[in-house]
Amino acid sequence: MKKHIALITGGTGGIGTAICKELASQDIIVVANYFPAEKPQAENWLIEVRNQYPNIFIAAADVTDYDSCHDMLESVKTDVGPIDILVNCAGITRDKTLKSMTPDQWNSVINTNLNSAYNVTQQLIQEMMERGFGRVINISSVNGQKGQFGQANYSAAKAGLHGFTMAVAQECASKGVTVNTVSPGYIETAMTRELPEQVLTSIVNSVPLKRMGTAQEVAYAVAWLAEEKNAYITGANIPVNGGMYMSS
Ligand code: CAA
Repeated sequence: MKKHIALITGGTGGIGTAICKELASQDIIVVANYFPAEKPQAENWLIEVRNQYPNIFIAAADVTDYDSCHDMLESVKTDVGPIDILVNCAGITRDKTLKSMTPDQWNSVINTNLNSAYNVTQQLIQEMMERGFGRVINISSVNGQKGQFGQANYSAAKAGLHGFTMAVAQECASKGVTVNTVSPGYIETAMTRELPEQVLTSIVNSVPLKRMGTAQEVAYAVAWLAEEKNAYITGANIPVNGGMYMSS
């Protein structure tokens, strides 16, 4: 049987790395996208993961730039093959209360966390539909569902991402392509390590499981949605948040 090929944007980051390894452990060929300016770090990352996962590759693109994504997608198609699993995972934070949030803090988060999903998915979706199979998984956040003090930019982008999921899911449901969101809560990564300690403590205390999640726990949900036999879930938002936010 032909092996699936997965592209993970932000694949060398905290959650991205766990997703790459989990998909690679399931015999999927994995391409981890990285930001071009971080080439040396990405090459070191590849050396580390290649020991255990020879089926992982890397590809550079600035996901905020449509043309840069186009060039990356063309070279992945030529060098590795057609992508049939896409995980939109690239994301940043620029936390600030709205009254003092600069246009750059707003725009950089919207561009990296939301416009990136358009830039990559728009250039892949037609091919997935023509082949009759595809899995698109958008990594949102609990803060896109409930909002977060200091994150008007991030909460807006992450909420927008699930709107994107629901619309695109309808557009390609009849062609074997599912589109879903995974919404992590507070996960142990570099992003949450930057939070002031008392802020983090009070957040963790509000989580029913009384702990942060692991990137691996997010990766399990992503890998499950990516399975070929998981064909009847589309337009869904799967929370991986320790019970921090519950909805019907
Ligand atoms: N609710 C109410 N008040 C709060 C608050 C909250 N949750 N958090 C902070 N405040 C208060 C502070 O106590 C402070 O009060 P005083 O002025 O009376 O001292 C005031 O708000 C700070 O206001 P500023 O306008 O000075 O704040 P700022 O613009 O410098 O921003 C902050 C502060 C960056 C928002 C900081 O509070 C913070 O880091 N908050 C956490 C944001 C957060 O949870 N980010 C998640 C990052 S991880 C992630 O995003 C991954 C994921 O998907 C979950």
